[in-house]
Amino acid sequence: MHTVIFGNGHLGQAIAAAIAASGAPAPRVLGRPDGAGHRQASLAGCQLAFEASRGDAVAGNVAAALGAGCRAFIIGTTGWEQDRSAVERALIDHGAAAVAAPNFSLGVAAFLRVVETAARLFGALEDVDPFVVELHRRGKADRPSGTAREIARRLLAGDPDRTRIAQPVGGPASRDALEVVSVRAGSAPGMHLVGFDGPGETVELRLTARDRSAYAAGALAAAAWLGRAQRAAGLHAFDAVVDDLLPADFADPGKRRAVAALAG
Ligand SMILES: NC(=O)c1ccc[n+]([C@@H]2O[C@H](COP(=O)([O-])OP(=O)(O)OC[C@H]3O[C@@H](n4cnc5c(N)ncnc54)[C@H](OP(=O)(O)O)[C@@H]3O)[C@@H](O)[C@H]2O)c1
Repeated sequence: MHTVIFGNGHLGQAIAAAIAASGAPAPRVLGRPDGAGHRQASLAGCQLAFEASRGDAVAGNVAAALGAGCRAFIIGTTGWEQDRSAVERALIDHGAAAVAAPNFSLGVAAFLRVVETAARLFGALEDVDPFVVELHRRGKADRPSGTAREIARRLLAGDPDRTRIAQPVGGPASRDALEVVSVRAGSAPGMHLVGFDGPGETVELRLTARDRSAYAAGALAAAAWLGRAQRAAGLHAFDAVVDDLLPADFADPGKRRAVAALAG
């Protein structure tokens, strides 16, 4: 398998280390290109590409790899929402498939499902406000983190009273907005805190990354999922990979129905 990693930073290096530890052939790790984009020569023969660079580089990097014949992508980069439909169209046009997620940690995937359950439980109680705090190293390019936005999306989906993320302006909290606070300091690889504050008590769910190995392990699990069967062209969520790894009763409701139907 001829593998390319776009991005020679923290995540790209962690994925390269995980590939080396698995005994697979060493990937080609590409940093920021000198000119407008990556040269086709550096992508020749690419069969699998990991995207771990910057949000504004994702569409160009995917297009370059598609042009070189690559048809399997794992997109871990965050901050490219504005290019999402163009990237998906390019993948479909080329018959290529990608798994894309702001966080490839399997522990985080399980955490997100705990958050969904908690949102439903606390959403049913009177006068409980959910909130999110995230802490990352000072140099992280985007805020809130992609994981914080995914946590917020799931909290909002389970809360009929809140419809949006609060904007960072002064004054008291608005009852229809979810407070999401980003802290950028030091070298922390990532901490997300989901709180539910009600009369007389606060419940906190905390997720702390110690290093980036969990992201790399999940990215490789996503690559294995892509390679295990013929996948539809376009973008796939990491949840599809996670559902394959979890017992059916923990998988999403659609998957549970499918399993039940198969069981007759
Ligand atoms: N999905 C996940 O599990 C997960 C986990 C961790 C991080 N992330 C995301 O992954 C991305 C990378 O994170 P990181 O911590 O590795 O950041 P990082 O340390 O800043 O590394 C990004 C690297 O990509 C390089 N780069 C810039 N443009 C490029 C291009 N066109 N092609 C190839 N490389 C390019 C950057 O070079 P310059 O320094 O010259 O800009 C930098 O070396 C971020 O979006 C982050 O939020 C996702």
